[in-house]
Amino acid sequence: MFLLPFLIVIIPILVIVWLYSIYFRYKKHLNQFNYVKISAKSTKEIYDLLMIQAKNGFKNAWTMLGPYPALITADPKMFNKILGSIKHITKPITYKAFENSVKGTLFYENGLIWKNQRRYMTTAFDQNAVLRFVNIFNKRADELVDNLKLEIEHNNVNNINVVDIKEHVDNTVLKFVYESFLDDEIDDLKGLMKKINLLSRLYAEKTMNIFELFKVTYFFTRNYWIERNIINYLHSNIKKVINKRLKNKINMEKIIFIDMLLNEMKTNQTLDEDLVIRQIKLMLEAGFDTTTYTISFLLYNLSKNPKIQEKVFNEIVSILGDNRNEFISFEKLKEMKYIDLVIKESLRIYTTGQMFSRYLLEDVKISDEITLPQGLTVTFLPGVMHRNPDLYPNPEEFIPERFKDKKFKENRFIYAPFCLGVRQCIGKQYAQLAIKTVLIKILLNYELVDVQHELCLAVELTLVSENGVKIGLKKREST
Ligand code: HEM
Repeated sequence: MFLLPFLIVIIPILVIVWLYSIYFRYKKHLNQFNYVKISAKSTKEIYDLLMIQAKNGFKNAWTMLGPYPALITADPKMFNKILGSIKHITKPITYKAFENSVKGTLFYENGLIWKNQRRYMTTAFDQNAVLRFVNIFNKRADELVDNLKLEIEHNNVNNINVVDIKEHVDNTVLKFVYESFLDDEIDDLKGLMKKINLLSRLYAEKTMNIFELFKVTYFFTRNYWIERNIINYLHSNIKKVINKRLKNKINMEKIIFIDMLLNEMKTNQTLDEDLVIRQIKLMLEAGFDTTTYTISFLLYNLSKNPKIQEKVFNEIVSILGDNRNEFISFEKLKEMKYIDLVIKESLRIYTTGQMFSRYLLEDVKISDEITLPQGLTVTFLPGVMHRNPDLYPNPEEFIPERFKDKKFKENRFIYAPFCLGVRQCIGKQYAQLAIKTVLIKILLNYELVDVQHELCLAVELTLVSENGVKIGLKKREST
């Protein structure tokens, strides 16, 4: 009879005592940093808060994420000591929020399971695969230019056509990833796009809603069922391609991602068909929004910086010569070094991956005064570090040449758009080649013009612009 009231009183007290004991245990280790309480009402507010911190040269603070202590850092020393070590590759419990989508995959797993997956997934990016990707990038980027031409002919004011470039680039990038990793063409591009975009929206909402973060309560929300339907749709789509694939004999001369996974499945006990589907879906998701927004922000930056745009154009013309309307080979892409700086600078200003975290399995000595305790979650803020005025003078300005400074050779931990170390982005080179190809094809055909559009930036799973990415396109006469 007294049990219920007893439990109602005693359980909250025990939970509070437990939380306080964790708080004080970690406070002892972390009291050299400020304590901050994190709260934001919207994903836009998160971005604004980060940028205010960046202006103030933010380095470190600690907080409690529910019962979990976390260090939030934009300090190169922390990037170096943690991401630079092969020991600290474990992702914290906060990644559980996305487990329905990524559980079991390379993005989510830790320890030996992750190591084993990283080994076989890396073979999907070998030299032969890269050459195949470049073919896909060329073909689909040409198609993007053709589609833009159609739009411009229909909708032209003063030779300048205002477009939300993100809406065009996302079709192209979805084809890139789908064809690269499934070796198949998309049946229903619009349907797939809608579903993938909706999934990103759901994840953004999830990070803002405490009920959705916990499995027990999430189950009772509408979003849970929408998410489930989308995941099932994507799985059955990929399964169809796998079935087609299994009917044909794998061509070992021209092995590609899907075949590589199906082949690995024969000898690797840890890989079954469900995981093959999940790994492929991961590549589509991880490669899509990040690359789409990076390309869109890059074109936007160039529209605002015509002198830099001209230098890029001159580099393209000087390397491609008279073959500028033809296939752009991997070698030619590699030769364009100034474009590399421009992409770096664009990713510095608009860092698509604004945060990622690691869980410390053991103490980490940072300096004589600072030792981070085992059990701590460390959340890295590369976008804040990239705007620190001490590291990047005039951080708001678009200056690709800044990356020529020798300090970037001396300290690679001051720049981390793709994360760093052994668990950095597996698709880094893939993304760079895709971005370069689209940029070159567009610049060969259009001049990018500033249309005074101000981005409304928000931190979802990637950095997004809530009001699109608008630029002006002016047809080049000389090509
Ligand atoms: C400009 C585009 C891209 C950016 C800025 C980017 C950024 C990142 C970042 C910051 C991480 C670390 C995330 C974390 O540790 O929580 C990451 C991981 C990852 N990325 Fe990318 N990414 C891009 C494109 C791609 C592409 C095209 C693919 C696939 C083809 C891809 C696949 C992955 C995967 C699978 C991981 C997890 C790797 C692991 O945990 O071992 N990314 N990416």
